[in-house]
Amino acid sequence: MRGPASVDVAFTPESARSSHVAVVVDVLRATSTIVAALEAGYRNVLCTGKVQRARELAGPGRRLAGERGCLPIEGFDRGNSPVFDDQNDGGELVLCTTNGTPALLRAVACADQVLVGSLLNLNAVVAAIPADQEVTVICSGTDGRFALEDAYAAGRIVALLPGRRSDAARAAERLAGAYPDPWGPLTESTGGGALRSTGQARDIPACARESVSAIVPRAEPGPGDIAVVSALVANREPAIQTARSFT
Ligand code: MLT
Repeated sequence: MRGPASVDVAFTPESARSSHVAVVVDVLRATSTIVAALEAGYRNVLCTGKVQRARELAGPGRRLAGERGCLPIEGFDRGNSPVFDDQNDGGELVLCTTNGTPALLRAVACADQVLVGSLLNLNAVVAAIPADQEVTVICSGTDGRFALEDAYAAGRIVALLPGRRSDAARAAERLAGAYPDPWGPLTESTGGGALRSTGQARDIPACARESVSAIVPRAEPGPGDIAVVSALVANREPAIQTARSFT
């Protein structure tokens, strides 16, 4: 089976080194929300780590989304939930979060190609990783620290890839193998606890569903310190037929 030449895992964005391909994961919740937004019909997601930059990006056809301290940001249209109750007809989502969008900005600065991974598009993002390349899975972490749910997702990605593994990749793969399914790492994690304590527990199962989307988002540098994320695999039927059944 042809696959990447080498696989590494960065457990925080700060520890990520340059690589050909980066797969960014923020299971709770930013990369799950990005996949869900594209499933819900948004044309792309404009990612920034700064609230003021997000406000500057507001405009017709755009909705502001994001969180600080897990909670929606004042004046934004929505928080960072991956549950989209409404279909969008090709608008743009501006997304500003604490960990996931800064990780995407870090990734576009240190990798030639950046893919957005989550459990929701697990099989699809692995299938989209180019062969014979150096691949790093970048975990967004939580407030600059190791995040169990991201390390678990990174290990699930590593387990599906051939190629020479770094020690961190081996550790992530072993960690993922210690759980029968995502429920344990997502509910035990600091991020899962924060969602429960802020009344957003429904987002945990929404982020725990595996390979329910065939969408593979790709992030590219955008003007003024943003990352522009759009669907890489545009010509494949989603794993499910309607966004509604997705949410
Ligand atoms: C983030 O990007 O910081 C996380 O997704 C946090 C959250 O969604 O609450």
